[in-house]
Amino acid sequence: MKSILVTGGCGFIGSHTVLALLQAGFNVCVIDNLYNSSYESLKRVQKLAGKKTDFHQIDLRDKEKLKSLFDQSRFDAVVHFAGLKAVGESMEKPLLYYSNNVYGTINLCEVMKGAGVFDIVFSSSATVYGNPERSPISEDQRLGAVNPYGQTKLIIEEMLRDLHRSDPQWNTALLRYFNPVGAHKSGEIGEDPNGIPNNLMPFVSQVAVGKLDELKVFGNDYPTRDGTGIRDYIHVSDLANGHLKALKKLAENPGIVTYNLGTGKGATVLEVIHAFEQASNVKIPYKIAPRRPGDAAVTYADSAKAEKELGWKAERDLETMCRDAWNWQSKNPQGYDS
Ligand code: NAD
Ligand code: UD1
Repeated sequence: MKSILVTGGCGFIGSHTVLALLQAGFNVCVIDNLYNSSYESLKRVQKLAGKKTDFHQIDLRDKEKLKSLFDQSRFDAVVHFAGLKAVGESMEKPLLYYSNNVYGTINLCEVMKGAGVFDIVFSSSATVYGNPERSPISEDQRLGAVNPYGQTKLIIEEMLRDLHRSDPQWNTALLRYFNPVGAHKSGEIGEDPNGIPNNLMPFVSQVAVGKLDELKVFGNDYPTRDGTGIRDYIHVSDLANGHLKALKKLAENPGIVTYNLGTGKGATVLEVIHAFEQASNVKIPYKIAPRRPGDAAVTYADSAKAEKELGWKAERDLETMCRDAWNWQSKNPQGYDS
């Protein structure tokens, strides 16, 4: 049985992926510094799976602790989610983002190399395309970050490419997620943002549950079918499956590979609001506000490469994403503190 180390495994995407890994029969060890999550998510994952994971509260920047973990345990591969992800915060505290995301990944790779572990799946993001020239976006489109968070993802991608060039033993999957939303169908695990959410779906669900009064729709004068921004929302459980497929790919020694993980379909902000209203049977009050600086009008993925090379395809539609997000939010109005 394969042993996988998951960094950031208590977070939103990590917890769903740990569940999928346990259900697929992997041994899983999670490290997380719990900066943006709680151990409660992992408790629930273990309950859902009926299986245990190993857990260590370790910060990736603590190389000694990381090294002693690798000295004690043998891992076949690492799935690397740990990182900070708030765009606004990254503009206020760029050094925190470079230190946490870039330096943390350098430490991880150094320790992996020392231990002879060369397979890594990295959480990249559609943010590496910056303001894309066109959609659908394929993996070979021009890259360019527009904020420090995005820069950290680009730098890490480049670093992992250099690492592979220096030593072809490295097998690396760079997974560029589009807009992860939804929750596990049980409603036991889901997205639990700190403070007021920046992203659309968690904001909408907190309005629906009565935690926030109304949504601001950032701009209705974009050149789209209803004037509001278009994004490629992808169910977190589909995303979790993408990691299983990527691990399978790494076992074939592919070198470094890059995949977009999206549905290939875009939804406008108003379409998301209406889908959520249908799923929850709750009216979402909203008002039109100015555009949010830095936002692109339209981004959605061309995920044909992942389908062809990984045999992966998103299966869940927007209705399912909204239904599962609402199931989680209504069962856990205060997130994991409920
Ligand atoms: P999350 O914040 O829920 O999970 C990240 C986890 O990493 C958290 O549990 C946090 O405590 C942990 N962590 C952060 N820094 C750490 C460190 N130095 N050492 C140990 N643990 C640390 O975020 P998520 O939404 O699950 O995102 C997971 C990854 O996917 C991130 O790298 C993120 O940048 C990337 N990503 C997320 C999205 C999104 O919209 N959610 C989109 C594209 C890419
Ligand atoms: C944001 C980040 C991006 C990150 C992505 C996934 C910015 C500028 N970009 O992108 O780097 O990779 O999340 O985590 O923050 N919207 C509203 N009202 C809201 C919130 C959002 O109308 O309160 C709109 C936005 O204008 C956009 C759509 O909803 O058109 C989706 O927004 P969001 O969920 O923040 O995702 P991204 O804009 O794709």
